[in-house]
This record gives sequence, structure tokens and C-alpha cells, in this order.
Amino acid sequence: MRVLVTGGAGYIGSVATAMLLERGFDVTVLDDCSTGHRDAVAGAAKFVEGSVLSTDSVALALTGCSAVFHFAAKSLVGESVEKPDLYFDVNVNGTRNLLDQMSKAKISKLVFSSTAATYGEPEVIPITEEANTKPTSPYGTTKLAVDKMITEEAKSGLAAISLRYFNVAGAYKSKAGWLAERHNPETHLIPNLLRSTRDKPIKIFGNDWPTKDGTCIRDYIHVVDLIDAHILALENLASGQHKIINLGSGGGYSVTEVVSAASKVLGRDIPTEIASRRSGDPAVLIADISLAAQCLNWAPKRGIENMVRDTWESQNASTSK
Ligand code: UFG
Repeated sequence: MRVLVTGGAGYIGSVATAMLLERGFDVTVLDDCSTGHRDAVAGAAKFVEGSVLSTDSVALALTGCSAVFHFAAKSLVGESVEKPDLYFDVNVNGTRNLLDQMSKAKISKLVFSSTAATYGEPEVIPITEEANTKPTSPYGTTKLAVDKMITEEAKSGLAAISLRYFNVAGAYKSKAGWLAERHNPETHLIPNLLRSTRDKPIKIFGNDWPTKDGTCIRDYIHVVDLIDAHILALENLASGQHKIINLGSGGGYSVTEVVSAASKVLGRDIPTEIASRRSGDPAVLIADISLAAQCLNWAPKRGIENMVRDTWESQNASTSK
């Protein structure tokens, strides 16, 4: 079976591409390389350089495919507040174009990369898929709009699963080398705290949150566990059905606990400095992952130290190149 991976040159898409190939799938990648990296795409994948907004590129990329993993999107909460139009265009119009071209090509299997940002500030922890969806950023709003679009599309036969990611971290050692986060600028906690120095300590965004140690709590999931769930989702698609499923670990770590875990892996202190709260951050995000267990027979296998270690090794491998 050939799978189209949109956004396959990005962090999560490149790991999906490599893991699909290693499990015997054929893969076509569609990516405009606006934030992704051409050299992250496994050599065995067919590569189409183009945007999800281009009808011709999407149609070409879909040739010979039976299913789609749709990762291509703008995905920074902060940037979405500054450039909402860009987010609506790429995320919503891009997906509309993809769905139209899939329908034309009679391809009816879709696994979509959704996000915990669709829920907004949670009223109850852990967050189930039944929770209210009140996104607090244009990013979350666009992903929620796409989830709703997919629900409508399933009424005419699409088989779809939206996977709502919590905090994805870690790296994957593919046959060709490490695939890891290479965002520019990098805003995520784990890759940044590993670069922390005495001159430039990692900033902890607030220590006055209503949590046990005053720092924000997040639910971190290893990118390999995340892609395992995508492959299980692909195998569990049902015609005319759209399921929405959370992917996290089901537990939370405060920023201070992540720093301690990293310190343990590195065997040294990580310099930190307390900074003011970052706007848009909720205090606590933890997923209820019972639906993923029930529908996909999936459970995460890799913990926070594994995520830190893999990120660390991938950063060392890339700087020693
Ligand atoms: N943090 C710091 N210092 C930093 C970076 C982050 O203290 O330098 C804190 C943040 O305030 C937050 C936690 O570390 O409490 C995690 O922050 P990240 O930037 O790593 O991730 P986010 O929680 O902001 O967002 C991620 C994805 C979103 C997704 C969300 C879902 O980037 O796309 O997880 O939980 F919606």
C-alpha cells in the first residue's frame, strides 16, 4: 500500500515516512519545504515538492496512493496569533484542497494530525475527547475547523481518524540517521533546555502557576509512540466513520520535572532562569488516553528520559557532522 505523507519533510512527518517505509509501506511525500527539510525525507520515498494549496501538486502526489497521513500545516501557537490568515489559508484551505483531490482520486483513507490546542483551557483534567473545544489560538481554531470538515466528509464515505497530539518530543534513529526537531526558531522546551548554558540559561516561563511546583504541566509523548499510533489508526479506519482520539502519555510533567529528568540524563546541572509567563500557555494539559487504548490497542512505551536522551543524541549527531 502506498501512503501519501503530507508534510513529510517536517519533524513528525519525516519520522512517519521512515517508519512506514521500514514497515513495508510505499510512501510519497508532499512538502513545500517552507519549514521542512528535503534531507529529512528518506531516500526510498517518492518526493513531490509543492504546497497542499496547489491542486496540481496534490493531484500528482496522490497518484498511486491508497491512504493519506496529513501532517502539512502551520503549527506554532504564537505565530498563529500574529498571522491568523496564513494559518487559515494553509491549514483550512490546504486541507479542503486535499480532501477534494482525494475524493476525485477515490482515495478514502485519512489519518489527520490534530492537536490538544483544539480544547483550549481545560475545564477538567485529564482531557477526554468529549471535552469542550474552545481553542485559545488561531492555530487551535484552524485544526478544530479541519476536524469538523472531516466529520462532514465522512458522511459521504471517508474513513478518517484525527489524532489529537499533546506535547510531542524525542527523535527517531532511522536507517539513514537521526530524525529530530529542526525548527527555526526552536521554541519547544526539550530541544531548548538541552542547549542551555550558564551564559544563556533556559527560561522557565513562570513559576507562579497553580501547580505543585508553580511551573506548567504538560503531557509529553515520544514521536515514535506517536507514529506507532498512526500506523495502528491506518489499520483501524472504517468507511463513513470519523474518530477523534487523543495521543499523549496520560501523565504530566512540570517544566521543573522535565529539567530534572534532563539533568539526570546529562549527568550535570541545567542552568535555568525564571521568566514571566508566556501568553497563551494553559497551566496544565494532560490527556485521557483510554480511547486510544480501546480503539487502537495502543499504549505509549517510551518515557520522558527516553525523549530527552534521544533528543540529546540527535543533537550531538548533527553537531558532529
Ligand atoms: N517552556 C518554558 N521554556 C521554554 C519553552 C517552553 O518554560 O523555553 C514551557 C512552556 O511554557 C510550556 C512547556 O514548557 O509550559 C512546553 O512548551 P512547548 O513550547 O515545548 O510546547 P507547548 O505546550 O507550547 O505546545 C506543544 C505544541 C503545540 C500543541 C501543544 C499541545 O507546540 O502545537 O503542545 O499540548 F498544541
